[in-house]
Amino acid sequence: MSLKLNENNIEEIINSMTLEEKAKLVVGIGMPGFFGNPPSRVQGAAGETHSIPRLGIPSTVMADGPAGVRIDPVREGAKTTYHATAFPIASLLSSAWNREIVREVGAAMGREAREYGVDFLLAPALNIHRNPLCGRNFEYYSEDPLLSGEMAKAFVEGVQSEGVGACLKHFIANNQETNRLTIDIIVSERALREIYLKGFEIALKAKPWTVMSAYNKLNGTYCSQNKRILTDILRNEWKFDGFVMTDWFAGNDPVEQMEAGNDLIMPGKVNQIRAEREDEVQEIIKAVKEGNLNEEILDRNVRNILKIIVKTLSFRGYKPSNKPDLEEHAKIAYEAAVEGMVLLKNEDGTLPLNKDSEVALFGTAQIETIKGGTGSGDTHPRYVVSIVNGLMERGFQIDEDLLKTYKDYIKTMRNKEEYKIREGLFGQPVMPKLPEMDLLKDNMVEEAAERTDVGIIVLGRISGEGCDRKPEKGDFYLSDDEQELIDIVSKAYHVRNKRVVVILNVGGPIEVMSWRDKVDAILLAWQAGQEMGRAVADILSGKVNPSGKLPTTFPKDYWDVPSSKNFPGDPPDDPKKVVYEEGIYVGYRYFDTFDVEPAYEFGYGLSYATFNYENLKLEKDESSIRVSFDIVNIGEVPGKEVAQVYVRAPKGEMEKPFQELKGFVKTKLLNPGERERITVSVDIASLTYFNEKTNKWVLEKGIYEIRVGASSRDIRLSGFIDVRN
Ligand code: GLC
Repeated sequence: MSLKLNENNIEEIINSMTLEEKAKLVVGIGMPGFFGNPPSRVQGAAGETHSIPRLGIPSTVMADGPAGVRIDPVREGAKTTYHATAFPIASLLSSAWNREIVREVGAAMGREAREYGVDFLLAPALNIHRNPLCGRNFEYYSEDPLLSGEMAKAFVEGVQSEGVGACLKHFIANNQETNRLTIDIIVSERALREIYLKGFEIALKAKPWTVMSAYNKLNGTYCSQNKRILTDILRNEWKFDGFVMTDWFAGNDPVEQMEAGNDLIMPGKVNQIRAEREDEVQEIIKAVKEGNLNEEILDRNVRNILKIIVKTLSFRGYKPSNKPDLEEHAKIAYEAAVEGMVLLKNEDGTLPLNKDSEVALFGTAQIETIKGGTGSGDTHPRYVVSIVNGLMERGFQIDEDLLKTYKDYIKTMRNKEEYKIREGLFGQPVMPKLPEMDLLKDNMVEEAAERTDVGIIVLGRISGEGCDRKPEKGDFYLSDDEQELIDIVSKAYHVRNKRVVVILNVGGPIEVMSWRDKVDAILLAWQAGQEMGRAVADILSGKVNPSGKLPTTFPKDYWDVPSSKNFPGDPPDDPKKVVYEEGIYVGYRYFDTFDVEPAYEFGYGLSYATFNYENLKLEKDESSIRVSFDIVNIGEVPGKEVAQVYVRAPKGEMEKPFQELKGFVKTKLLNPGERERITVSVDIASLTYFNEKTNKWVLEKGIYEIRVGASSRDIRLSGFIDVRN
């Protein structure tokens, strides 16, 4: 009987494999559907591994991404469609600070991947928000490693609970898009350990099947060719037991990739985009034959891959239905969307609006609502509920005249060459940003203000893979026409003693100081996926009480951000390297330590309810500190509260941030008057700092301040713990 792969005969299989079969197993089949390659069996998937039928080794399928399964929604000649749910972006998920909902989203994506025949979902992406202009920050969770790691861990648990492999990406320090394939990230060992690696270390507890090494270099060596991070840290120190794949066409030396511990080279056939190269399969065969690559290394990588392949749906012969429960998943996308939107301002109870409010909607993003970012993190849902359609569906009275004018305006503008919708990096539509409509014409805004009770302005921003945002008007800053829109709408409504609400349909921070005092309420709706309009409507109406909190600082000005001094690197117009001069001082670690006031701080978010924090109790045993306290809803409506635990370390031999997040919890829905006793356990090991001299984690002895807050700057309870022994 010919030998066929199973969980128990991997060594036998490896011993019976030819060199060519081994080389094929560590290289993908080439980018499906591109460069003349046939489409994947799951059309639109990002890549596949080779099959070796002789040995019962199936090919496996990999598809993006962090906001949903990215595959082609339609196939030539097929009646069936292959839409997948567009979930909210990662930055919204982390704004929920709710492990359970993130796990549910991961599980729903895992089911959709499974039912469409995908073995590995190339998510979560958990690179740190080092600078607000990174084009892919929408795909990432936070400026803080603990929040990033906890969200990624919950997501991996969800995906893998459905039999689909997850992929922690991009390992490591892929914090910009500018020259991402070649940029050399120069970062101190301490910042690397405490900020950029820490989230991955936390997420590894979920035992992800795969990790994707990053495009960039780290201190001179491509991540995909970097033995220190892939073998010494990831595998030997952290005991990772899955396999590592490259990012698509990353690096420049397959032998170095093999030796460093990058088990799989994706997508394969680099010769299709780099004429000087051969197919990596041939390069690896040649290297072994010429003695440049020890075959034992190749066997090690093959082993790492086979140990995971035997867990996959393809190996187990699962027959995908191609009919995931999209209805059920839409509900999960909605639940996540409402949990992660952040109420930034609500003057004198402007929100929630009365159900029968007459509403005038301003801003093109009310109609061209942005569900997510572009690039590999894009999605192809059956529908997207725009903000205006969500409000109408939920019963708001929308000013029809104004809406018709906006629709006509958008139609006219999209017919102009410069605003035509084009195709992006991965074939998805890219929509050039439209200038806002001139509202002074025909006295439009005055008439709308006369006819309606409240004005709602929607401001949109989109970004994506392949390029970074700009510190310019129309991107980080408002454009002149957006400023004018806010000015004239606010004036027209305020003169009539009526209110103005701004909705931010964005994937990352924008400047708010120049305009936030002109409006009465601000809702950060993020890019909330296909259910966006319904989620926004239900928060505006009060059907849902907003409970999101910021996972990333909104600075007063871009140039307040420490990394603005060297982002995206040197030379600025075509950077070869970027030095992370700010070290560990990223996000609130910088703003709090150097006393720089942000516009909205890390962890900030309002509610329609009000919460008190009471009865703090601190208990310590040899491994952890138990932080217990009550959260009481003293408001008039039910609500959830995200309580955060920060720790301020004693002054010692090493400089430290003012404070660091060491725990968090979201309460259940608390009714008015209801209290919940919360306990957060802080591992004492998590209080250590990385000492570069000794290359060890060090616990500073002394008195630690435990700070319990509604945000990083709204500390409600504090106490001290002596950590001497
Ligand atoms: C892209 C991205 C990565 C994605 C991969 C496959 O370039 O960097 O996140 O998973 O290629 O599409």
